[in-house]
Amino acid sequence: MNLASILSFTHTLVKDSLFPGAIAIDATAGNGHDTLFLAQSVGEEGQVIAFDIQSQALENTYTRLKEAKVEERVSLHQRGHQHMTEVLSELTIPQVQAIMFNLGYLPKGKLEVTTLPDTTLTAIDQSLEWLGPSGTLSLVLYTGHAGGKEEATAVLQKLSLLNTRLFDTAHYQLLNRNLAPSLALVRKKGLN
Ligand SMILES: C[S@@+](CC[C@H](N)C(=O)[O-])C[C@H]1O[C@@H](n2cnc3c(N)ncnc32)[C@H](O)[C@@H]1O
Repeated sequence: MNLASILSFTHTLVKDSLFPGAIAIDATAGNGHDTLFLAQSVGEEGQVIAFDIQSQALENTYTRLKEAKVEERVSLHQRGHQHMTEVLSELTIPQVQAIMFNLGYLPKGKLEVTTLPDTTLTAIDQSLEWLGPSGTLSLVLYTGHAGGKEEATAVLQKLSLLNTRLFDTAHYQLLNRNLAPSLALVRKKGLN
């Protein structure tokens, strides 16, 4: 694995929690790279629920899924991830094995539409409730755009205070690059 590729590192760690038939969430569908990864990882029997507030992002994601012929196992929602609980309850989802966030703006999209600390923190709270035993929550954090540093700091602060009896948390950061994305990870402890 390429150590400098935060995205492939993220996929490797998230995959640990996935299996055929699992349910997973992409909280920021964007151009659909993570949605596709999740759809392929949960297999035909699995289910992926993806959120984005921009129709352009959901169109890009749908095109990518259709090309890979996995669109039927994914439901796309033009809703903010801060409404995750409402949507998952409506879909009668019991719990999920993985939830991925890739914060910031849509690459090649409107740079001024970004994730925001308040809604991100609300969505993290909800995510922690929906994660099943041994489930993984991943957040790729960016500090190069306006507001990115504040959002990353708020996320790391929140995760550093999680109850150690319930969660393991980690932060993976490249040391010799400026403004490279970093990865925050939460793993819910399993049933022992
Ligand atoms: C960095 S991009 C995601 C990239 C994506 N994971 C991929 O693989 O292409 C961030 C996305 O978050 C979306 N976004 C911003 N605020 C949001 C919110 N409250 N809920 C859901 N998505 C949001 C943006 O529209 C944008 O598409």
